[in-house]
Amino acid sequence: MRYVKLGWSGVKVSQICLGTWHLPPLREKDEYGVYKVDVEETRRIVKRAIDLGINFIDTANVYHGTMSGPDYIHAGNAERILSDILKGYDRESLVIATKVRWRMAPWPNGEGLSRKHIRWQIKESLKRLGLDYVDLYQIHAPDPDTPKIETLRTLNQLVEQGLVNYIGESNHPAHDIVEFMELAERHNLEPFTTMQEPYNYIERQIERDKIPVAKRYGMAILAYIPLAQGVLTGKYVDFENKTWRIPEMSRADYIEGMRRRYFNDRNLKMLIEFHEVARELGVSDAQLALAWMLKRGEDLGVTIIPIIGATSVKQLEDDLESLNVNISGDVMKRLEDIYKNYTQ
Ligand SMILES: NC(=O)c1ccc[n+]([C@@H]2O[C@H](COP(=O)([O-])OP(=O)(O)OC[C@H]3O[C@@H](n4cnc5c(N)ncnc54)[C@H](OP(=O)(O)O)[C@@H]3O)[C@@H](O)[C@H]2O)c1
Repeated sequence: MRYVKLGWSGVKVSQICLGTWHLPPLREKDEYGVYKVDVEETRRIVKRAIDLGINFIDTANVYHGTMSGPDYIHAGNAERILSDILKGYDRESLVIATKVRWRMAPWPNGEGLSRKHIRWQIKESLKRLGLDYVDLYQIHAPDPDTPKIETLRTLNQLVEQGLVNYIGESNHPAHDIVEFMELAERHNLEPFTTMQEPYNYIERQIERDKIPVAKRYGMAILAYIPLAQGVLTGKYVDFENKTWRIPEMSRADYIEGMRRRYFNDRNLKMLIEFHEVARELGVSDAQLALAWMLKRGEDLGVTIIPIIGATSVKQLEDDLESLNVNISGDVMKRLEDIYKNYTQ
C-alpha cells in the first residue's frame, strides 16, 4: 500500500479509501422491502482491506448499506455495522471519515447544516461508530437554509473540542467551496482539508471547476464512485454482442437509478474501447480505471484518493491490484482520445 498526505494536513492515509455506502446485500429483505446487509461478508471485506494496508474508511451518518438514498428509518445502519467490525482494531491505526447533512429524523431540524443539527449528529455518529472522535467530518451536501459562517463556526468548535480532527466538504458547487475557504481564512476558522466529489474515467465534470479549487487550497480530492458504481469494471457489458447486461444482485439489478444514469449508447461504445485497452495490457477493467485515476491525479498535480466500494473480497483484491499497474503516457493519451471522441 502507498500512503499519501490528506491534502494540506500531516495525516497519512492509504492511497485508496474503502467506502461503505453500498455493502454486500443479503437476498433477504426487511419489513420495508429493503435488502438487508450481509454483515459477515462486510466484516471479511473490511478485514482484508485493513490487512492489505487500507487505513482510510469513509462512511456517512445517513448510509444504510444497500440503499442509494436511505430514509431516516434506515439511516445510521452502516455506521453501526462498521462500529462492530472496528472493535477488533486499534483505533489509532485508522483514519475514519463520516458525514452530516441528510435527514436523520422527521422533525424540522432532523437534517441540515445548522448548529443544532450538526451538534446533535456528531454525538449520534460517535455513538453509532463507538468512537470518541472522527478523523474527518464532512458536510455531505449544501444546505441553502443555513448561513455558511454558522456551519463553519460549528465545525471549528468540533475541532477545538477534539471531536473531529479535520473537516471536509462534499457535493458543493465550486463557488461555494471558495466562499467557505475564504470565510475560514477571514475569520481564522478551520479550513476544509478535502473535497469529496464524483469522479471517474467517464464522469469528469470536476476537472473543469473543482480540481482547480482543490489545487488552489491544497485540498485532497476524495473521488467517489471511481468505478462509476461498477460500470467501469465491464460487468454490465456483453462484449461479444455489444449490448448491456445486468448480473443478478449487482447494484444495477436493484438500484433502478443506476440504469438511468449509465446505460446509454455513448457509455457502451466507450466501455467497449476501454475494455480493449485493458485486455491488451492484461489487466482488469477495474484496475485500468483506478490506475488511470491515480495517474491522472499525478498529471493534474493534485492528490486524488479513490473511495472504492466492494461487495466481495474478490472485488476488493481486484481493485487494489490497480496500485501495481503503471500506465504509460501513450496509454494515457489513448484513453484520453477515446474519452474525447465521445465527449465533444
Ligand atoms: N459524498 C457522496 O455524496 C458520495 C456518494 C456516493 C458514494 N460516496 C462514497 O464513495 C464510496 C464508493 O462509491 P461506490 O460504491 O459507488 O464506488 P465504485 O467503486 O464506483 O463502485 C463500487 C461497486 O462496483 C462494483 N465493483 C467494485 N469492484 C468490482 C470488481 N472488481 N468487479 C466487479 N464489480 C466491482 C460493486 O458493485 P456490485 O454491488 O454490483 O457488486 C461495488 O459495490 C461510497 O461507499 C461512499 O463512501 C460518497
